[in-house]
Amino acid sequence: MDMQLMQDIVNAYGPSGREQTASDVIRGYIAPYCDELYNDVLGNLIAVKKGTSGKKIMFSAHMDQIGLIVLDIDDKGFLYVAPVGGVSPLLSVAHEVMFQNKTRGVVSYENKHKKLTEISMMEVFIDIGAATREEAEEKVQIGDMAVFVSNFVYMGKRVAHRTQDDRIACAIVAEAMKTMKSDHDIYAVFTVQEEVGTRGAGPAAYVIEPDLNISLDVCSVGDTPESVREHVKLGCGPTVKAKDNSVIVPMSVRTFIKNAAKKHEINVQDEVLRAGGTDTGAIQRTRGGILSGCISIPCRYIHTPVETVDMDDVDAAVKLVLACAEEKELP
Ligand code: CO
Ligand code: ZN
Repeated sequence: MDMQLMQDIVNAYGPSGREQTASDVIRGYIAPYCDELYNDVLGNLIAVKKGTSGKKIMFSAHMDQIGLIVLDIDDKGFLYVAPVGGVSPLLSVAHEVMFQNKTRGVVSYENKHKKLTEISMMEVFIDIGAATREEAEEKVQIGDMAVFVSNFVYMGKRVAHRTQDDRIACAIVAEAMKTMKSDHDIYAVFTVQEEVGTRGAGPAAYVIEPDLNISLDVCSVGDTPESVREHVKLGCGPTVKAKDNSVIVPMSVRTFIKNAAKKHEINVQDEVLRAGGTDTGAIQRTRGGILSGCISIPCRYIHTPVETVDMDDVDAAVKLVLACAEEKELP
């Protein structure tokens, strides 16, 4: 993995529905390696690399990140917010946020009535240092979105950042595009609005009509103290998804991915995700049905400020994408 590419893609601003900055960063990295590159109406970034077989493989990763949207501003200049995607109020408090125009703020909560562990998003606000509503409105409007500011935490082979979900997968697909070899047309699709209900992926797949889609996302793990039972562990390879709340992956697709992994001696893990859906399902239900599977990057502490992945899994995922693209026979 090119670390500069990873850092730039993971760090870019891009909450659901406001992915343009992230899209532009990814575009800058992949432009030299594709035949066509465009954003569709919803903002999905679609890169095409032509093959000769007449078949199409789509690799998809979502660009959007979770955040907060301003719904009201009070007389003292505090911003009240609603979540964009699965944001925990408890894990929002005491964190730094940034708006698209670079306005900075900090998140806190009405501390009069409840304990911190009992608060809902109703009691959470952003302080942008304004003393009045007018002063706040000079910087931020209702409907503007903030994302959580995060630094990379490098812990040997493991790297934490607020937005590993799912920019690490965007970085994996972008990195793979550099050396991608395939008989098939390759569609690398960086989707929008996954975190608010997998809204972008379906329309993109409808137009592309791929013979096979492989989504890339993060998945939860069961290797931390007293965690919920899960089979997947960090550092044991990318996963081949069997099920999440959006999809049951056809055996033919799982076998295809596992065979490609075997040929290239890439260790993979079987994944059954306990909670949450992915673009995999939205794409499967497009048109008359599309063959759709998913490779996941094992990730600790998903939807917290310290989403942690293992670089061995990341590098293996790049290889696995390339291995799938090289396969001549599709499922
Ligand atoms: Co997510
Ligand atoms: Zn995700």
